[in-house]
Amino acid sequence: MLNTEKESVFSESPRLLDRVPYRRTRTPERPIAASREFYELMNERRTIREFSSKAVDLQVIQNCLKTAGTAPSGAHRQPWSFCVITDPGKKKEIREAAEKEEKSFYAERAPEEMLAALEPLGTDESKPFLEVAPCLIAIFAKSHEVQANGLKQVNYYSAKSVGIATGMLICALHNAGLSTLTHTPSPMNFLSDLLERPSHEKPFLLLVVGYPKEGVTVPELYRKPLEEIASFY
Ligand SMILES: Cc1cc2nc3c(=O)[nH]c(=O)nc-3n(C[C@H](O)[C@H](O)[C@H](O)COP(=O)(O)O)c2cc1C
Repeated sequence: MLNTEKESVFSESPRLLDRVPYRRTRTPERPIAASREFYELMNERRTIREFSSKAVDLQVIQNCLKTAGTAPSGAHRQPWSFCVITDPGKKKEIREAAEKEEKSFYAERAPEEMLAALEPLGTDESKPFLEVAPCLIAIFAKSHEVQANGLKQVNYYSAKSVGIATGMLICALHNAGLSTLTHTPSPMNFLSDLLERPSHEKPFLLLVVGYPKEGVTVPELYRKPLEEIASFY
């Protein structure tokens, strides 16, 4: 497909020229309380690595994906693609491919420093959660679009845009009572093959979604206080 693509600077833009009044219907009456409550909700989000096999409601996932789709993006190109995998056979294939990559990553490619940083998390090449968790969301970033006429339309800041959309997705899933694991098997190209994605979509992240296994524990962690992460001018 890529061979027939031509660079186009002046390709059709999405309709951004029509202007409409900006309206929002949900403005909190108590913004300080609202912001604190949202912080408290998000402060309970933790990455879990052991999932129950309890099914997730696809409508919940769809609403959360719609939320991700409201993310801002460079020139409003919306350069993301979300693949939802609930099929047990496909999850098994993904687990096997991920474990193959991770095995050589941990044994051969991972720098010592990274292995030391990962040690407290207890991660290794074994990834049972890829099969046990009811839902995987493979997220792809598109560096460009291929239009119906074969022209190539470059996307701007695609990685930043997809990162923001992914963050919003994680927030939405947490808000809906689901837990996640942000997984970055290294490298992730097997996702493109297994999910038969077009070559202009590059794997960005694999989000494992579901409910915690009963009794699951997480590493105790320290979140930097406001003074350490923010400066006010
Ligand atoms: C970009 C990114 C990649 C990550 N990759 C992995 C991963 O491959 N495996 C894993 O177990 N956790 C992974 N994590 C989860 C982090 O280890 C986790 O977010 C961090 O330890 C903080 O814990 P918390 O999410 O519970 O706050 C990743 C997180 C991010 C943001």
